[in-house]
Amino acid sequence: MRAKIIGAGSIGNHLARALRSHDVAVDLVDTDPAALARARDEIYPARYGAWDDAIGLHLPDDAPRGDYDLVVIGTPPDSHLPLAMVALDEGCGALLVEKPLTTPDLAGLEAFVVAAESEGTRVFVGFTHGVADATSAFVARLQEGAIGEVLTIDTETREHWGGILAAHPWLPGPEASYLGSWRRGGGALGEHSHGLHLWQQLARAVGAGEVSSVAATMDLQRIGDVEHDRIALLDLTTSSGLVGRCVQDVVTRPPSKGARVTGTDGVMELRFERERERDVIVTSRSGSDPQVDVFPTTRTDDFGREVAHVLDAITTGRPSPLDLAHGVATMHVIAAAFASVADGVRTEVPA
Ligand SMILES: NC(=O)c1ccc[n+]([C@@H]2O[C@H](COP(=O)([O-])OP(=O)(O)OC[C@H]3O[C@@H](n4cnc5c(N)ncnc54)[C@H](O)[C@@H]3O)[C@@H](O)[C@H]2O)c1
Repeated sequence: MRAKIIGAGSIGNHLARALRSHDVAVDLVDTDPAALARARDEIYPARYGAWDDAIGLHLPDDAPRGDYDLVVIGTPPDSHLPLAMVALDEGCGALLVEKPLTTPDLAGLEAFVVAAESEGTRVFVGFTHGVADATSAFVARLQEGAIGEVLTIDTETREHWGGILAAHPWLPGPEASYLGSWRRGGGALGEHSHGLHLWQQLARAVGAGEVSSVAATMDLQRIGDVEHDRIALLDLTTSSGLVGRCVQDVVTRPPSKGARVTGTDGVMELRFERERERDVIVTSRSGSDPQVDVFPTTRTDDFGREVAHVLDAITTGRPSPLDLAHGVATMHVIAAAFASVADGVRTEVPA
């Protein structure tokens, strides 16, 4: 198999490594020659021990076109859809677009969905936690009725963006990239949209349908001339009437990421504890000791698993939590959440 990764930054290196570990030939493309050099000389060797000479490094003008089984878009969110459209035009077996799929103004989203459908190209959106082993086990147990009927869902992705900036030592601060701008797809709701995507994945899994309305509260902050939500609180309702909440922020350290689901017979928690190299499920039912299940993992494992999942889904055609429709649904809630903040009212999410 052959893959082309657009964007040689943090995620581009993670996914290059993950694809190479699955014997996929990789070309890495970036508009910035310094980013290509940094990938080869700094990021990849520092993370994985040594550069891999089999990886091609290209500026866009000299990058090979077409004939790729997979194209990955690993650039800032405001460039995802224009680059994904180019990949569709060039022709590719499948596309993996990083999260969030686009910006909260949803520019170009409808046209992209139509183009992907008419080309018949399978598109995935890179919500890595959606395919963690612990997430799959958590979903399976909820569906088996481990805590009875599900009454409410809470998710959170609370992580100070110091961790993200530490992976980008060349950035002076969040305002120097999309991270500091919610309009460009950064801020808490865009950058940490794993939390919202997980909320939607769990609601769907327990038959509660799609999010139909959102009331959002945000702590908006300005750095220089860009604004970001440093805390986003979402109060969510689904088409079946399930209510719950999702919290995302860029201020919490140590980080706190996961889900808590309350059912008629107990409570189940899912924790992503990357600093302890593990994920955990805790199942509590009244009258018995909590059951704790540990899933060892590292960040490198996370991306290896995501790539294995995507390659398997391409081969088998099996549905995936990373499918385009789910990434689009997450964008619609993000857009509605910003509208809710601007208008000060609960906002409907289009079906
Ligand atoms: N799934 C995950 O867990 C995860 C983790 C990290 C980042 N991400 C996502 O990946 C995306 C990129 O984040 P990052 O941290 O790697 O950013 P980054 O700044 O480290 O890297 C982005 C790279 O894209 C390049 N670029 C920008 N425009 C380009 C273009 N038009 N053509 C080619 N290259 C271009 C930049 O020069 C830069 O090198 C974001 O959407 C982010 O949310 C996802």
